[in-house]
Amino acid sequence: MGELKAETFTLTYRDRATYEDIGASRARGSNRGKGMGLNNALTIDDLKKMARRRVPKMFFDYADSGSLTESTYQANENDYAKILLRQRIARPLSNRSLKSQMVGQDVAMPIALAPTGLTGMQHADGEMLAAKAAEDFGVPFTLSTMSICSIEDIKSATSKPFWFQLYLMRDHDFSKNLMDRAKAAGVSALVLTLDLQVLAQRHKDLRNGLSAPPKFTPKHIYQMMVRPLWCMQMLGTRRHTFRNIVGHAKGVDDLGSLSAWTAEQFDPELSWDDVQWIKDYWGGTLIIKGINDPEDAKLAVDTGADAIIVSNHGGRQLDGSPSSIRMLPRVMDAVGDKIEGHVDGGIRTGIDVMRARALGAKATHVGRPFLYGLGAGGQAGVTRSLEILRDELDKTMALCGERDIENVGPDNLFEVGF
Ligand code: FNR
Repeated sequence: MGELKAETFTLTYRDRATYEDIGASRARGSNRGKGMGLNNALTIDDLKKMARRRVPKMFFDYADSGSLTESTYQANENDYAKILLRQRIARPLSNRSLKSQMVGQDVAMPIALAPTGLTGMQHADGEMLAAKAAEDFGVPFTLSTMSICSIEDIKSATSKPFWFQLYLMRDHDFSKNLMDRAKAAGVSALVLTLDLQVLAQRHKDLRNGLSAPPKFTPKHIYQMMVRPLWCMQMLGTRRHTFRNIVGHAKGVDDLGSLSAWTAEQFDPELSWDDVQWIKDYWGGTLIIKGINDPEDAKLAVDTGADAIIVSNHGGRQLDGSPSSIRMLPRVMDAVGDKIEGHVDGGIRTGIDVMRARALGAKATHVGRPFLYGLGAGGQAGVTRSLEILRDELDKTMALCGERDIENVGPDNLFEVGF
């Protein structure tokens, strides 16, 4: 009965064009709907609730956590509600388009999947499934250095170029190794993350005893056994450790040596000279991630990078820093049109994507929204998260009186309450 009601609501809620799109994707054999209940997820929050029921607690908490008091994690989400949009009426709204470009590459909508570590623990082969969902949708997927599936795994699972996120490690030879492998895999943009020189404390991870790589105690085994579907899927894959690192970094051949290596490899001495070195060695499209201050944004422009992502690591690093959306206008004022500006952190709806665009971001990146989809239902769940964001963005844009995302800008803002 509940399901029937939800289906009926879905029918009236979506406009005809969107509903027909879904019918067409089913007819093409899309795997949407194969995951139980995904059709009934109408919001990212619905997917989050489903993920909580399917993913072992320590991994669900790993995604749903910020550092220390989590004030920045919460501000990232809450500040979006302070941005009010202008409602416009009686303007032409047929043939709407969300198509855009990110660093010169065509995208179906201005949303990329952000790099997230340990994604293969939200769901077996998680990075490969998310990459496939992103590829089918026409949006970029970014593989984290700290992923479970390797660069080569993603290459074999996809047919179009993906993005790779680099942490500069103390062992520069290993960074070169990663960049060489990324080049060989046809990676079309390198995302260099600079806001993790020192790892901040996340209380949930400490209380759960989550370590990198995961070491399993009886408590963890219990948390996994009460998620039997997750366990069965994990038993079906051989990808259980950081496959970008094991067997590639000097002296890292097993879980024990990996643990010692990760503890010492993040570099507290990282400098802008290192960034320049990476830019020169990589030689391709470079996006700098982790800018949350106008002065740093100007320094990023000086490196000649192609884009910056205004980001505080999803509230997982400096707790007490302003939300990234609040920082976006100041950063964009500082850099003008010298560099492409993106933003991530706290986006939970398509309305938020519209708000970010109106406030000056060329594009957005989402982390937890797709992780919740992945935990809720694998590849189909990631697809569902993208559908939700797309449909919400499309309707919001239309109700603002716009039919082309490329025309969205400051004129669509009514008031910004920060
Ligand atoms: C991250 N993030 C991240 N960033 C990065 O550059 N490399 C990484 O390995 C990770 N790992 C990671 C794990 C998890 C579980 C999360 C939630 C986030 C940060 C990520 O790329 C992005 O900045 C945030 O996720 C954006 O915030 P939202 O969309 O999650 O609110």
